[in-house]
Amino acid sequence: LTPPMALTPPMGWNSWNRFGCDVSAALVEQSADQLVSLGLASLGYGYVIIDDCWMSPHRDARTGRLVPDPVKFPDGMAVVARYVHALGLQLGIYEDAGTTTCAGYPGSLGHERLDARTFAEWGVDYLKYDNCNHGSSVTTAQYIERYAAMRRALDAAGRPILFAICEWGVHHPWAWAAGMGQTWRTTHDITDSYSSMLAIFRVNVGLSAYAGPGGWNDPDMLEIGNGGMTPTEERTEFTLWAAMAAPLVAGTDLRTISADDLAVYGDPEVVAIDQDPLGRQAVPVADGDRGPGDRGLWVLSKPLVNGARAVVLFNATDEPQTMTTTAAQLGLAPAVSYVARDVWAKTSSTIAGRLTAVVAPHAALLFRISEPAGRASWSG
Ligand code: GLA
Repeated sequence: LTPPMALTPPMGWNSWNRFGCDVSAALVEQSADQLVSLGLASLGYGYVIIDDCWMSPHRDARTGRLVPDPVKFPDGMAVVARYVHALGLQLGIYEDAGTTTCAGYPGSLGHERLDARTFAEWGVDYLKYDNCNHGSSVTTAQYIERYAAMRRALDAAGRPILFAICEWGVHHPWAWAAGMGQTWRTTHDITDSYSSMLAIFRVNVGLSAYAGPGGWNDPDMLEIGNGGMTPTEERTEFTLWAAMAAPLVAGTDLRTISADDLAVYGDPEVVAIDQDPLGRQAVPVADGDRGPGDRGLWVLSKPLVNGARAVVLFNATDEPQTMTTTAAQLGLAPAVSYVARDVWAKTSSTIAGRLTAVVAPHAALLFRISEPAGRASWSG
């Protein structure tokens, strides 16, 4: 049996968004070094994940095993795993439930047990399992069985390996992946743009009922630092992902990251909201006639431990907007006043039952709302 894993959303770095197929041992090890030296590892960014294109085009003819590309990973994967482990980090790798990966390398279909054993022997701690090249006329039940086969193979492999299910939300993994994987992608791939990020948010935000400790909706990796979004939009991505209790997987070049981008990935208070032990994904609160977000204005409420709330005021429109929510709308227990912490601005104020702010276009304000400390209470 797998020990409890991912009791809070997994965090780390992945090569794909920034580097695509341009992966190597040097890149992985340098990125691991950077996670430590930039202070991200101590905030919880613990998985160093190698995405597609790490393999040779063919399995070993004699053993049938997957073979790391000898140019990209000249000393093999176990050496990379040891390097990463020596830094106190964990290693992630990528495979595919079909005949080949999305980039055309050997897939695990029919080889699940051998591949899981190989990963375990190398010291892999995390498997991202994709769904490309699955053949035609495959039923939903067959897709699910392919993921279940790898789950069983991982269980038999003798090493706890986090299972990140990546089938892009097509077969509604939120309905079947809990108990099988620790994360499941809910959408197609993110690209480095506000419109892509927004489209993914709009799907993932509706799935809060399915997320919780040990099983998380995955709206894909972060694009902060890759240049396609404004600084406001990048901060919005991080705010929304944290509110949605999403995996926080940095997708940029950590060797050249700017101080501003690092400040987004590395904001301890925002990370703490993502990682709150209650493990609740924010719920969108009604603000329009046709439901949450119908006017491009999103109010999100994420319950935190000790009765606090994380509250997001996200203005998805192209004009500044005055946004308001109330304690009742947020589901806060009635109180005379609350402390509202503006998490990015690092300022706190006392409010009565109403929160109002002017929100810039594409911006998301993040508040942590709690009842004032020292409030009179009765016991016994
Ligand atoms: C799919 C996945 C991406 C990435 C690529 C690699 O598109 O959704 O996250 O892993 O494959 O080829």
